[in-house]
Amino acid sequence: MLQISTPVTPRCWGIVPAAGVGKRMAADRPKQYLPLLGKTVIEHTLERLLAAGVWAGIVVAVSPEDPYWPDLPIAGHPLIHTAPGGKERADSVFNALEYLQNQAHDEDWALVHDAARPCITASDVQRMITRLQHEPVGGILALPVHDTLKRVSGDAITATIDRSTIWRALTPQMFRLGALREALREAAANGSLVTDEASALELKGLQPKIVEGRPDNLKITRPEDLALAAFYLEQP
Ligand code: C5P
Repeated sequence: MLQISTPVTPRCWGIVPAAGVGKRMAADRPKQYLPLLGKTVIEHTLERLLAAGVWAGIVVAVSPEDPYWPDLPIAGHPLIHTAPGGKERADSVFNALEYLQNQAHDEDWALVHDAARPCITASDVQRMITRLQHEPVGGILALPVHDTLKRVSGDAITATIDRSTIWRALTPQMFRLGALREALREAAANGSLVTDEASALELKGLQPKIVEGRPDNLKITRPEDLALAAFYLEQP
């Protein structure tokens, strides 16, 4: 008898790489565990992601030696799973995708979001899903650049870059789970440097879309970023 398989509606999985050590913060702990308005940075990040209400689950990649993560109440949230982090950010993302191999479909969406971006809004997550859900490849939140950009050699300017075609990549970055896993696997096998998920797909000749994000979706990188994040989080 002819079997007609009903198409499955793709689900959304959150992937949160959180295995970095945050060297530029020069703090006593990785930046995702620094205090911010009475919680840790990563608790804000995950609470804001969960508020989007779109998830089949969220996988957090943490270092196996991480002493902070198991103590956070949110680590026991029913939608939150833990996978082992890797050497580079891309390895952490890859491990989280591998963790999902038995429960997710290759056609499901993976939305990768840095643990160190606590000011993500539920509305940005929902908006990017609405915008990208019928795209074959997917895309990323990004911001147009407003400063004039210089190419520099040593301490001297060698050129001014046309900024009209330059955008800053933010997260979440949203791709088909299977395609992203294979793109990261290939990039690792070829020794290619990928600092975000989009670059792994670009290496395969694909052209992810951009969705304009909010300027307050900053990544905690330097100590002064914490005060700015606190200011943004307190806005109504
Ligand atoms: O260091 P950077 O700010 O680029 O890190 C971005 C995100 O990737 C952070 O949330 C960090 O914890 C994560 N990361 C990771 N595994 C690594 C390095 C970074 O999950 N090996």
